[in-house]
Amino acid sequence: MKNLLEREKELFLQTYKRIPLDIDYGKGVHLISRDGTRYLDFFCGLGVNALGHAHPGIVAAVRKQIEKFAHVSNYYITDVQLEFTEMLLEISQMSKVFLTNSGTEAVEAAIKAVRKIKGSEGNILSLSNSFHGRTSGALSLTARKNYKNGFEPLLPNIQTIEFNNVDDLQVKLNSSTAAVFIEFLQGEGGINLISKKFAELLNELCKKYGIPMIADCIQSGIGRTGKPFAYNYFDAQPDIVLVAKSIGGGLPLGAMLIRGEYENVFSYGQHGSTFGGNPVSCAAGKVVLEEIFYNGLMNSVAKLGNYLMTELNGIAKLFPSKINEIRGLGFMIGIEMADTCTGFVEKLFEKKVIINCTDRNVLRILPPLISTKSDIDFFLSKFHEVLKHL
Ligand SMILES: Cc1ncc(COP(=O)(O)O)c(C=O)c1O
Repeated sequence: MKNLLEREKELFLQTYKRIPLDIDYGKGVHLISRDGTRYLDFFCGLGVNALGHAHPGIVAAVRKQIEKFAHVSNYYITDVQLEFTEMLLEISQMSKVFLTNSGTEAVEAAIKAVRKIKGSEGNILSLSNSFHGRTSGALSLTARKNYKNGFEPLLPNIQTIEFNNVDDLQVKLNSSTAAVFIEFLQGEGGINLISKKFAELLNELCKKYGIPMIADCIQSGIGRTGKPFAYNYFDAQPDIVLVAKSIGGGLPLGAMLIRGEYENVFSYGQHGSTFGGNPVSCAAGKVVLEEIFYNGLMNSVAKLGNYLMTELNGIAKLFPSKINEIRGLGFMIGIEMADTCTGFVEKLFEKKVIINCTDRNVLRILPPLISTKSDIDFFLSKFHEVLKHL
């Protein structure tokens, strides 16, 4: 009898290097394997499961919605889409929405929107080390070469600004620029935070030249950093905000949020999606937003995120030859190791803790937003143990 991974190899395009875990079910912050072992899931389905696994509120909302209808198409407006959108717009202080299924689709919608607004000529700017998705438009903005190699030609008129380099920003952002896409806290790129100086200049130049600023908050969004969006830590006001991942609580959901002069960018038929804003996903999304913003979860993330950061910095001081730096905000933290971190992820996995490694040597911690101090303490103790014995 072939095992799971052997069967996977036979059946799937080999795009994912799977983790050898035979998952039976998830509950709260844990994944439970078929042999009954409990793993602390601080990977969180790649920053998706904000309320953990099998959250009773999500289960009930999804069940209630699917018993009514799962899908009717966007030829109709449904109460559940409206209610979810009202909450999302209130939280984000944006004025209009386009709902998608995923992050990369939200990015594609924004690329089309800025081309419609600014025409085909000007450059769209993104930052070095950025990640904006895998579809061809989003991939064009994704600066990291390893994702793009072999897939060119991609979109023309895309330019990269060096991360946090204000001189480069000053040179490349000018009156002929079409738009700037920015992750204020980069995820895949290694949990890199934009500097205050860079954010302020970016905001100033975008205003001065009337250039749309698009904040990609797909990974850092919606409460994960201890504020609704990573840009809330800066004096910056994006014109378009992109969210996905956690807003569906595990169901596929994303959004392009838009405000001000750009809100009427599309007319009937110029953009669309069969499944975008699926009613079942929106039902789950309502529970996610309620818990994070109206039932105190975001405040808990801010508080516990500070605790996690302080404790990690304390541990880092004990192992200066192994840890270069701890960085991030709230529950989106990167631990830059002196060397490659894949072996470290495996050792933590043996201790029943799941995190991942990004940008070769950055351990990425994305706890579910429902994590408690005792979950964090469990993680910290296992992390410390692995460091001692590596
Ligand atoms: C910042 C950012 N933008 C866009 C995406 C693409 O999202 P999706 O995988 O849902 O298409 C990701 C995914 O990791 C991301 O982190």
